[in-house]
Amino acid sequence: MVSLYPTTDTHPGPPAPGAVSLRPATPADLDTLRRWDRDPDVRGSLIDADWHWETELHRHPAWREWLIAEVAGRPIGFLQIIDPEHEETQYWGCMDAGHRALDIWIGEPEARSRGYGARMMEQTIARCFADPTVHTILIDPMVSNTRSHRFYQRLGFEYVAQRDFCGDRCVVYRLRRPGPAAN
Ligand SMILES: CC(C)(COP(=O)(O)OP(=O)(O)OC[C@H]1O[C@@H](n2cnc3c(N)ncnc32)[C@H](O)[C@@H]1OP(=O)(O)O)[C@@H](O)C(=O)NCCC(=O)NCCS
Repeated sequence: MVSLYPTTDTHPGPPAPGAVSLRPATPADLDTLRRWDRDPDVRGSLIDADWHWETELHRHPAWREWLIAEVAGRPIGFLQIIDPEHEETQYWGCMDAGHRALDIWIGEPEARSRGYGARMMEQTIARCFADPTVHTILIDPMVSNTRSHRFYQRLGFEYVAQRDFCGDRCVVYRLRRPGPAAN
């Protein structure tokens, strides 16, 4: 059988930086996103189980980016970047300017633990810090999702605090812009 992921199957080790590409999510991704919603690891990692894809894929609020990660032209995962200061539900509470908050999942189980998540995050971090006003990136995995904690720590995120979001106990991690401008 031809592997979906030939790069890592034939050459064990991290995929090349360009092995994963990010593109905006569109309404054509609806079925894929719904399928990924049913994956137990994805479901278990999400606070809000209903992302209202049918309607939300048609909306493009200025405070949000929805991205699909692809490997060899095939979708493997999803990324959300929000500006928590302007996000309309004020999920993060009252926030100062200069933050971004992320959600990430790889919906295809066989695409996990191959280094693609790290590549997705590296590109997303660069995308966030390309805006010179952004000084801090936040992420809030559930306390129970300890594997993801290690994943974020390896990427340089530092522990901030435990906090309840919508009744779920989460760990807040942050990544500050490298260099003396961080505050
Ligand atoms: C977390 C996730 C994005 C990491 O991407 P990835 O490509 O699997 O990660 P990499 O191959 O770059 O790095 C491997 C690390 O990812 C994490 N990871 C791998 N599979 C995971 C899973 N099913 N759930 C949570 N974290 C996982 C672990 O930290 C792993 O390192 P370990 O083997 O030492 O435990 C991906 O595994 C995933 O989407 N998991 C399910 C949903 C989820 O937990 N999303 C995060 C919500 S905060």
